[in-house]
Amino acid sequence: MKLLKEKMVKEGKVLSETILKVDSFLNHQIDPLLMKEVGDEFANRYADQIITKILTIESSGIAPATFLGLTIGAPVVFARKRKSLTLTDHLYSSKVHSFTKNETNEISVSKNFLSADDNIIIIDDFLANGEAVKGLLDIAQQAGAQVVGVGIVIEKGFQEGGKLLREKGLRIESLARIKSLAGGKIEFFEDGEY
Ligand code: G4P
Repeated sequence: MKLLKEKMVKEGKVLSETILKVDSFLNHQIDPLLMKEVGDEFANRYADQIITKILTIESSGIAPATFLGLTIGAPVVFARKRKSLTLTDHLYSSKVHSFTKNETNEISVSKNFLSADDNIIIIDDFLANGEAVKGLLDIAQQAGAQVVGVGIVIEKGFQEGGKLLREKGLRIESLARIKSLAGGKIEFFEDGEY
C-alpha cells in the first residue's frame, strides 16, 4: 500500500536491525486518514469473503481493526491483555509470548462476543514472530469460529511469523512487508515477492 509505505519511510524510525518505530501514526499517535485507507484496503483484499467479526488484540490492533469494521459494517472484538474487573469468567484465553518485549501475556475474550457462527478476520498492527496471531487463532478455535484470514498493517518479512503461518495454509494479507532494516534503511518486498 503506497501511502503506508511512504509514511513509514518519512516518519518511521529504524531503532535497530529488527525494530521500526512508527508511533507517529500507528502505535501512539494515530493517523485516521491513513487508518481509513488501511481499513478500506483490508476490505478490498477480503471482498470475496463473508466476515461477521473482526478479532484483534489491544492496543495497537484496535485502530486498523475498527476502520475495517467501519468499512464492512462488522463488529470488532479486541482480546484483552490484562485481567478486567468486569471480565472475570466465561472467557476464551490463550498465552502470547512476545519475543520483542520478552514477556508473556494471557489474552482473553468474553465468550459473549465470539461463537461458532462467526466468520472471523484477524487484524494486527505488526507481524513479527506470529505469536499474537497464534494466540488469536487459538481463541477463534476455542469459539469454534471459522477464520477467513489475517490482515496485517506491517509485516517484518525477515522474521518467521509470516512464513510459519502461511505454511499452515493461513491466508495473510500484509499492507507493507519489510525485507530489511539494515543500515537504518527500510527495504520492502514487492507485492508477491517472498
Ligand atoms: P509477534 O506477535 O508477531 O510474535 O510479535 P512480537 O511478540 O515480536 O511483538 C510484540 C509486540 O511488539 C507487539 O505489540 C508488536 O506489535 C510489537 N512489535 C513487534 N515488532 C515491532 C516493531 O518493529 N516495531 C514496533 N513499533 N512494534 C513492534 P504489543 O505488545 O501488542 O503492543 P501494543 O499493541 O500495545 O502497541
